[in-house]
Amino acid sequence: MNADAKFTRTLVTSALPYANGHIHLGHIAGAYLPADIYVRYLRLKGKPVLYIGGSDEHGVPVTLTALKEGSSPKDVVDRYHEANAEAFADLGISYDLYGRTIWDLHADTTQRFFRALDAGGHIERQEMVLWYSEQSDMYLPDRYVKGTCPRCGYEDANGDECENCGAQYAAEELIEPRANIPGDTSRPILKPSAHWFLKLRDFKDDLKAWLDSHPDWRANVRGIAYGWVDDLRDRCITRDTDWGIPVPVDDPEAQNKRIYVWFDAPIGYVTNTRQWGVEAKDDAAAWETWWKDPSTRLVHFIGKDNIPFHAVIFPAMLMGQGDFIVADNVVGNEYLNILNRMTGKAEKGSKSKGNMISVRDFLTRFSRDALRYYLCAIMPESRDAAFSWDEFLNRYNGELCDVVGNFVHRSLTMTVKNFDGVVPEPGPFDAEDQALLDSLPEQLDGIAQAFDQFRFRLAVERFIEMGRRANQYFDTKQPWVTRKTDRERTATTLYVCCQVVRVLCAAMAPFVPDGAAKLAETLGIEVFVGGPDGGPDSWDAAKTPLPAGTPLQPPVVLFPKLDKDYVAEIAERHARGEAL
Ligand code: MF3
Ligand code: ZN
Repeated sequence: MNADAKFTRTLVTSALPYANGHIHLGHIAGAYLPADIYVRYLRLKGKPVLYIGGSDEHGVPVTLTALKEGSSPKDVVDRYHEANAEAFADLGISYDLYGRTIWDLHADTTQRFFRALDAGGHIERQEMVLWYSEQSDMYLPDRYVKGTCPRCGYEDANGDECENCGAQYAAEELIEPRANIPGDTSRPILKPSAHWFLKLRDFKDDLKAWLDSHPDWRANVRGIAYGWVDDLRDRCITRDTDWGIPVPVDDPEAQNKRIYVWFDAPIGYVTNTRQWGVEAKDDAAAWETWWKDPSTRLVHFIGKDNIPFHAVIFPAMLMGQGDFIVADNVVGNEYLNILNRMTGKAEKGSKSKGNMISVRDFLTRFSRDALRYYLCAIMPESRDAAFSWDEFLNRYNGELCDVVGNFVHRSLTMTVKNFDGVVPEPGPFDAEDQALLDSLPEQLDGIAQAFDQFRFRLAVERFIEMGRRANQYFDTKQPWVTRKTDRERTATTLYVCCQVVRVLCAAMAPFVPDGAAKLAETLGIEVFVGGPDGGPDSWDAAKTPLPAGTPLQPPVVLFPKLDKDYVAEIAERHARGEAL
């Protein structure tokens, strides 16, 4: 379906990363860079778009980190929220708001969600038995208890699910349980506890109908979502912990419990939209248009481990509210692994291996355009990809610099030098001139179509292809030769080249915003950066030729080339596990 016809605005979300560690390249390629590119593209088109993100600050990942480093959960989330917000800003991830789930406003939104589901009869109290440590005097939720998987025998399985085989089981099935708490050597015991469950089955028909109406989603997302919908179970949405949002039920058993992090986290998208309305619009009700008006198009960008939450559980929670929209697309990426230079094999990024590359480390060494270009070029859309230093060097230098950067630079340099710093007046067009000029709107549309289908690698390919064609044209026309013999011919050639440059400028803006901004300045064009209210369409405006006589600034290098030895040196440091 043509999305334009049905929708008047787009709400884009990126998964809220846990505020318990630094954002690394794997995260970026999954849920953040594609979302940002998409959002920048829509803004360029003048479409109203709101881009919401934030930190996920509750849950066991955070309390375990605090426990292990001997600090408090609040210390942990304050530190990493700040660091990650900064890393995203440095990378140019252009959120309209980057919020926090520890905000009071978020407890309010979450409790409203809980109460509405409860009032609708979708929440149920159930008795269960859970692992408990007498030594630490606490229940052991989620990763606080480790043991052997009852299905596959993996020895580092969690309390109720196995990361190795994906099995989910009741706590008492775990074999040889042990507390995952430094210094706790006691043997956990089983102890009863009351908890609150979301009756997902209530939403089965609605979920199925909704999935059926979106056959265009990526296969990985559909496959996992249908698998879940065919086997829906009640989900426990409370935990025995004091780090989280209080459970809004009138029951003494609820006192020592908090809402489960995976219930509150996606509601963070709503909270952060509320906060955006207050900050940007001074309007506490502004968020409602973005979450309740059926002409709003909601798109979630996530990594594949988050698919069930965004394609089944959160949609069910939204449906249970009665008046909320649900996603029109859930764009789930596969993983970005890291190529090990010694073995030549791709490895999963892991803290214990020390092979992960944090965004802030990377950006102390290389430009964000270089990183954005490379990650987009290898984006793990339909299968896993691997970060490789050699490939980073080769693709950035060989494609962005040598193809596009080079074409732009030689075209503009020659124009400025030979035609008094303005776009020259062309003579009559020959067939080659005409063919290239005529192809520009089509080429730009081809890139737009790839964005519309969330095929970012394809968009990059088409963009580089545009540069290749332009270079061929330049080489055929040889303006460096004709300038001595045929001024009109040279003027025509460079006029055509200037038009290509103008289109390239729009096309590159979503991927490599810094290069695009420099180029726009050289060309003296305003690039509308857009926002939630929408505005002029600078994307399609690029199809209108720059008039002859348009003044040009002296061109600057858009994409400085990387030095091979320098990249090799940094790659060595990375291989040794040192900070970049
Ligand atoms: N913090 C989770 C993770 O890193 C993602 C939460 S996404 C949200 O896997 F939707 F729940 F916010
Ligand atoms: Zn297992």
